Amino acid sequence: MPTAIPIVERSPVAMQRMADAWRMAGKRIAFVPTMGGLHEGHTTLMRNARHNADVLVASVFVNPTQFGKGEDFERYPRMLDRDVQRAGEAGVDLVFAPDAGAMYPAGYGTYVDVEGITTVLEGAARPGHFRGVATVVTKLLNIVKPHVVYFGQKDAQQVAVIMRMMNDLNIDITLVVVPTVREPDGLAMSSRNIYLTEQQRSESPVLYRALQLGERRLRQGKVHAADATKEMRALIATSSSGVIEYISIADAGSLQELHGPVVDRPVLISLAVRFGTTRLIDNILIPLAHS
Ligand code: PAJ
Repeated sequence: MPTAIPIVERSPVAMQRMADAWRMAGKRIAFVPTMGGLHEGHTTLMRNARHNADVLVASVFVNPTQFGKGEDFERYPRMLDRDVQRAGEAGVDLVFAPDAGAMYPAGYGTYVDVEGITTVLEGAARPGHFRGVATVVTKLLNIVKPHVVYFGQKDAQQVAVIMRMMNDLNIDITLVVVPTVREPDGLAMSSRNIYLTEQQRSESPVLYRALQLGERRLRQGKVHAADATKEMRALIATSSSGVIEYISIADAGSLQELHGPVVDRPVLISLAVRFGTTRLIDNILIPLAHS
């Protein structure tokens, strides 16, 4: 069966009316928010969501409020036609692709601020980032009105922030987290990977190897988090030109850094490393460090 090309909707109000009609007809709406530049990580979310929906909506919106000064907002990949095609192949019925002006019209002045977990890791490195993410996700959920929304484990802290926000604000939508999709050599798929030079691309799988090294050390037990991160740091430094921004071993719930011996509890090992001007993040979630 030939793949159907999804409808593209640009107007938030028209999107809301469409969602109302689907809901009135008893349809279950699943939603995958993205910033486009779709790759297999995104389409895996979509394929998963397809099984859980009568109507599948994906958004493509490069959200200006989650980019800091000097970040890659301007050069972020924008390729809507290709994204619509790929979304269709993954079973998406409708792509919501608003203009920035429709999402943030003149006089716009409301933001969603999640406290606590937004000040560490990515939040510390990118001030204001999660304010922008929480704000746009709230807006998108109000516009698309899904029953279920899909996010990737690739952005572990984003998941934690959205979960906190949905709990705190009584947002009655099911959240599903999908495991990180990787290239065969271990590099986590990301829209930003296309910025890498050939040399940087060939070095980049070291990030996943470092995460796996950290996981092995923690699973061996009796290892201080600080010693595990030191080994990870050394591995990245000796086998790549990557500049480490942070390597973290944290409580998976609170995202508070662990320093001493790691006891039985869910742990998130995460890192951010710069290759030239390209900033890559990755993580591994260990449900029980010593299991
Ligand atoms: P974006 O980076 O486009 O990612 C969209 C979704 O795809 C996120 O939930 C992200 O975690 C997931 N994703 C990206 N790469 C993945 C991979 N390799 N494996 C599994 N999932 C992956 O995240 C955002 O956009 C934005 O912050 C957004 C939530 C859309 C708000 O603007």
